[in-house]
Amino acid sequence: MKTFGMPATYGPEFLSARLRGSDSERQPHGNSGSSTSCPFHSEPGAVGRKDAATSVETPSRELPSKHVFDGDMFDARLMDPETLQRPYALYSNLGKCKPVFWSNAMSRWLVTTHEHVREVLRDTDRFSSQVGVQMFPREHWLMMRPVTNELAKMMIFSDGESHRGLRCMMRHVFDANAMKSLSPLIQQTADRLLRQLPQRTELLSSYSETIPVAVIAHVLGLPERDMPKLHKMATQWVNATAVYGNRTAMLRGLKSMWGLHKYFSRHNANKRKKPGNDLISRLVGLQSEYGFSDDVLVAQAILLFVTGHETVQSTIASGCYLLSKHPQIVQQAVSGNISWKSIVEEVLRFESPAQATMRIATQDSDIAGVSIRKGDGVVAGLAAANRDPKVFERPDEFNPQRKPNRHLAFGFSTHACPAALLGREEIRLGLSMLFQRYPNLKVDCTPRWTTRHNFRTVVELPVTLW
Ligand code: HEM
Repeated sequence: MKTFGMPATYGPEFLSARLRGSDSERQPHGNSGSSTSCPFHSEPGAVGRKDAATSVETPSRELPSKHVFDGDMFDARLMDPETLQRPYALYSNLGKCKPVFWSNAMSRWLVTTHEHVREVLRDTDRFSSQVGVQMFPREHWLMMRPVTNELAKMMIFSDGESHRGLRCMMRHVFDANAMKSLSPLIQQTADRLLRQLPQRTELLSSYSETIPVAVIAHVLGLPERDMPKLHKMATQWVNATAVYGNRTAMLRGLKSMWGLHKYFSRHNANKRKKPGNDLISRLVGLQSEYGFSDDVLVAQAILLFVTGHETVQSTIASGCYLLSKHPQIVQQAVSGNISWKSIVEEVLRFESPAQATMRIATQDSDIAGVSIRKGDGVVAGLAAANRDPKVFERPDEFNPQRKPNRHLAFGFSTHACPAALLGREEIRLGLSMLFQRYPNLKVDCTPRWTTRHNFRTVVELPVTLW
């Protein structure tokens, strides 16, 4: 998934954003300042509420009751590590008050409603995926420029013809049949792990991480012994796209990206000499037909590797946590009265691992009547859209029976996840096999989450298996 980085909270970017104009100045179409009709004002303290019906805690601090929308306060909340543990109440208030919100701290727009997130993702003429160096905080642009040139070759950061060509080539080698053929591998991996698990275990590392890592290793033809170092590099890289003001994490991420580049350059070259029955060998075989350079294939390999596991591992872990809180749903699923597929959809909606994705405005235009300038960064809040009450009745309730469930966890339109089928199957088997064996599984404490706006994933999940 595409990611976006955050600038230092109130560093130079904050000041330059200030110089560009205040929040209300940037919203000339009446969506600014004292919005007395804002439902937020009739619900003081809503940010501190508990998520209804799910027993999932939200940050308990209350917002001051004001009659003027205070953008700075929302900005500060957006950056607050505690809010990032459970950001949905904040998103909900933004959706009600300012669905298109200029964040000074992020130096970009944040869009939080289902309708407008879809508009941003659908309109590829107005909103480009070529985010370039803007995905990073401004103070790191110089340092990150060389790596940005490599990232620009990934399909997720491309538009138009080059994106269509890459998607078409990928469909050739990674279609529905290829994805379905991976089910036995997922099953065998889950089965092997379940046999070995001790009664008390940290489930993320002992189970939910191992399934997608094994799958992506098989798909890309990677030797098992290389997986720990590759996994570490991928995680460090993802962290770098979400750090603000943390130069060390940024440097670590930069080093990891070069490490991945070096690794996959060698890996692809080996597959060119000695092809196997894996996706890279097939891509290499198609390369001349599509006219892509070696570097472009290396970029796609890195993209697949990085996107292919963090999302899945976290959804298995968050699904496990949610189900442990809803034993009646587990009972119904185990007895076949609720389908595991609908559970997977609801976990993806409720705890979307890809919380947001970024675009760049290619022209002056507007979203929901709010003026957006050419060159502005626009963050499409997928997770926020997935809690939009206009689309989801009682959005803060975990309800696998909801129909339809038009969540945007896999994105929308041109760049929608091409591996959604595979992701769904990994999560379905990961959860169903776990709970069929251990229907009374208990999560020992509330999980912590990464404090990242883009990829929000479970950090650890201690459980007792019953
Ligand atoms: C729970 C699992 C997953 C979730 C929630 C997820 C989510 C997403 C989202 C939201 C996007 C769109 C990003 C955008 O519009 O900027 C995307 C794109 C993508 N995903 Fe996934 N993904 C998952 C699993 C996977 C897996 C398993 C793979 C590969 C093995 C994968 C490969 C990709 C690729 C290559 C793209 C770029 C598509 C394009 O730009 O056309 N994803 N994913």
